Amino acid sequence: MKKALYLLIVSFLTLTVQSQDIKKEWTRNYDESKIPAYTLPDPLLCENGHVVTSAEEWEKYRRPELLDIVKTYMYGHAPVLEHPLEYKVEIVDANFQGKYTKKNITLYLTDKNEAGPLTHAELVIPNNAKGPVPLFMIFGWGFMNQMYPSDLFLEHGYGVAILNTFEAAPDRKESFTDGLISAYYNDKQVYRRPNEWGSLAAWAWEASRLMDYFQNDAQVDAKKVAVLGISRLGKAALWAAAQDRRFAVVFPVNSGCGGGALSRRMIGETVWSMNNEFPHWTCDNFQQFSLREQYMPFDQHSVIALCAPRPIYLATAVEDTWGDPKGEFLAGKGAEPVYALYGLAGIGCEDQPTVDNAMDKGYIAYHVRSGGHGAMPYDWNQFIKFADRFLK
Ligand code: GCU
Repeated sequence: MKKALYLLIVSFLTLTVQSQDIKKEWTRNYDESKIPAYTLPDPLLCENGHVVTSAEEWEKYRRPELLDIVKTYMYGHAPVLEHPLEYKVEIVDANFQGKYTKKNITLYLTDKNEAGPLTHAELVIPNNAKGPVPLFMIFGWGFMNQMYPSDLFLEHGYGVAILNTFEAAPDRKESFTDGLISAYYNDKQVYRRPNEWGSLAAWAWEASRLMDYFQNDAQVDAKKVAVLGISRLGKAALWAAAQDRRFAVVFPVNSGCGGGALSRRMIGETVWSMNNEFPHWTCDNFQQFSLREQYMPFDQHSVIALCAPRPIYLATAVEDTWGDPKGEFLAGKGAEPVYALYGLAGIGCEDQPTVDNAMDKGYIAYHVRSGGHGAMPYDWNQFIKFADRFLK
């Protein structure tokens, strides 16, 4: 009895010490000198030890393998459709502001159409276009949509589509499976399997459904669709493009942890923090990497590499230290070997560029703008300039 009591006390003390250790470890760090030593997994190194040396090999073996690993351990597997789903199109105004056509698209997210979860997108297209237009698809965020400068895109000849991201996949950890995610549960399934999709994957999947729709809209050039999201929706934009190669260019804006920034740096927002505050964003398998980033079989440079050879613009802001701007630069650098397989230039410099000095001549663009989290005119002008290179 005495022994049992002794053991109980010892294990209680051990547990307390351990949890204090963890607390000590995850205290917010913004100090570069406290970043643990780490090695990034080589994106070209296959599970069987082979190192990929050509774009063909990358596409045939390593890309599918890496994509599967990132799905299984991080964003989760999403349903695979056997045929495209249906949608409804309404022309809201054919002469919006005297020069645009505005359409409302209803995307049915299951075979049940109206009876299942659905979401919407608002599409605006310049009427003076000579043919199908290139387009910016933007992950919308309720009233925050007002910050997207649609007019600027339209004046530059782009269409703009804003997806109502959270309508069928709410960004709430208590109820994120309401709507889309639970609609794909098997009979009797109550919880997600550990490798099944979280919200970021659900939002990315919705973007792919909108992309399905674009294949049939004669006013849109479906081969010239850029995808853009800010913050958590920047993470979703990156994951959408990593999987769906129909997206021609991707703009993850201040996407930070779980987006463009390396997890292994453990500075600003960490996997631990994201897993605790937003456990619904990723699959349950990802929980195991809280404070265990070094054991991840990939890092965010791998997710950027999955977008190759398509152009990507990593936009960060100097005051957004929570998002780790330098970690995005290093992730971009880490993806360069994969772009190099295609003979394409990456960021184009070895050290993180100074503030407001965009590196945008290669296929991985990067900037750290002055100011904080969000998007500013500097970002938007840069994005149009970059998109023009590839989509005009
Ligand atoms: C939080 C979160 C970030 C996220 C951001 C946002 O700060 O920790 O990961 O990017 O919200 O979406 O605005």
